[in-house]
Amino acid sequence: MTGTKLTSGTEWWRTAVIYQIYPRSFADANGDGMGDLAGISSRLPQLQELGIDAIWLSPFYTSPQRDAGYDVSDYCDVDPLFGTLDDFEVLQRTAHDLGIRVIVDIVPNHSSSDHGWFQAALAAGPGSAERARYTFRDGKGENGDLPPNNWESVFGGLAWTRTTDPDGTPGQWYLHLFDTSQPDFDWDSEWVREQFRAVLRFWLDRGVDGFRVDVAHGMIKAPGLPDYTPPAEGGSMGGAPATLEPGISAESPVTAPYWAQDGVHEIYRDWHKVLAAYPGDRVLAAEAWVDPLSQMAKWVRPDEMHQAFNFAYLETPWNAAKLRSVIDESIEAFGNVGAPSTWVLSNHDVVRHASRLALTGENLQGHGIGPKTVGLPDTAVGLQRARAASALMLSLPGSSYLYQGEELGLPEAVDLPDHAREDPTWFRTNGERYGRDGCRVPIPWEGASASFGFSTGAKSWLPQPAEWAGLARDQQNGVAGSTLELYKHALNLRREHSLASGTVEWIDGFGPDVVAYRNGAVTIVANTGAASVQLPAGDVLLASEDLVGRTLPGDATAWLRAVTA
Ligand code: GLC
Repeated sequence: MTGTKLTSGTEWWRTAVIYQIYPRSFADANGDGMGDLAGISSRLPQLQELGIDAIWLSPFYTSPQRDAGYDVSDYCDVDPLFGTLDDFEVLQRTAHDLGIRVIVDIVPNHSSSDHGWFQAALAAGPGSAERARYTFRDGKGENGDLPPNNWESVFGGLAWTRTTDPDGTPGQWYLHLFDTSQPDFDWDSEWVREQFRAVLRFWLDRGVDGFRVDVAHGMIKAPGLPDYTPPAEGGSMGGAPATLEPGISAESPVTAPYWAQDGVHEIYRDWHKVLAAYPGDRVLAAEAWVDPLSQMAKWVRPDEMHQAFNFAYLETPWNAAKLRSVIDESIEAFGNVGAPSTWVLSNHDVVRHASRLALTGENLQGHGIGPKTVGLPDTAVGLQRARAASALMLSLPGSSYLYQGEELGLPEAVDLPDHAREDPTWFRTNGERYGRDGCRVPIPWEGASASFGFSTGAKSWLPQPAEWAGLARDQQNGVAGSTLELYKHALNLRREHSLASGTVEWIDGFGPDVVAYRNGAVTIVANTGAASVQLPAGDVLLASEDLVGRTLPGDATAWLRAVTA
């Protein structure tokens, strides 16, 4: 990798701002309405201008796209929808030349049912070595007509599907924690372990800087696959229920037999060694919905992964006391194992934070919002809170994740027509849950172009709201006060003042609605309430809203040069 602006051996990920690219919706170079790798390469200079350190690419591998690419049928190739391996090489070289690291997604809990391994398992029949690679079981009941247990899919409906034998008779069942088209591997199989080591090496050999590990808390299932009924208020991806039932403490939550089993850690210790054998500084980042944070920190012990997404932070409402407590808890939990805390507000699975933070109704993980949702957000309030929340997040020590489009202040697309929806959640719940399409709409680059410059053609695979014309990048670039300029400014200052390697020293005295703290030479004041507050002394470095004199309005954050007494 000569000629790049990157230096190795720096543990760069401890302080990095990592920008998530959702390839279907970032930029489309061939005009078919679906984003692609060449599109990404063409837009990387704009990300360099934004000031990020790394990109994480959601899956672009060969896939029938029944779960938008998280159903992989070949882990070592690029789906023709997105381009070729050569296009990936160009993307990676372009990124590295711009000083941007590249993290790719790996999906080890399940493959696509189209994968050759699963097709071989179906063909080989019960008891075969091929079936032992996935989670096949005989059904219960006299003729095996009943599923092996009561588990439900994260996307709704049963987590089991019955197979049909070659002679047409009903056969065994296979487990799929997600869609029917996503059969779960059996990680007790050494063969499966070896295949995934090879997949990691395939991408490491091509020079990737790390992996985001999909469903990193799900690969090992409790022996005997016991029945389990999740608490009604728990997130479908795991984690503690929003309200703990009597007798269940946050320190010993009830763990589903398919989430957060101890055996997963052995896999990550193994992967850690695979990465460590490569030169440079490569990162493993866990998508693990585990509560409380002290449990999640197990994923980032020194010989396991390097980072885990801080979903506890993402799920925290816009409330000063709760924010302060989750920030303390995060720094402590991750710090105890020597890992940096991470921070995240949006991704391709949750309602965009410019809408979520102003929802007045309930917001369940993965359920999404749509036209019939009760308590839909006020767009202006949502945007104002999102800007304030992002300004707070980007001031915190550790590594922050951004999701494409949040730097434009994009809200959730609420009014998608039913026929355009693609998320399996929508289909598996008969439209009861809207799912995640609303946060996956292709992003706007040029307000006056067809498909707002997302595509070289006029199409976009999900329709873009007309109001997004005004949020397009070219409408905000260089415009004082725009959300894009706010992000650029924050990222610049963050670097200039080394905030990501700093510390949090709370400042009291601003009242119950304010989060105020000092990070090195900068004081940060975030006002989550409605009433304005008087700012302390010090030059204002950044403000998410216009200030009136030295008054910070409600739903706003300011950074100031700290004044030392
Ligand atoms: C992860 C992904 C999500 C996907 C699921 C199944 O949660 O982020 O998009 O649907 O895993 O792979």
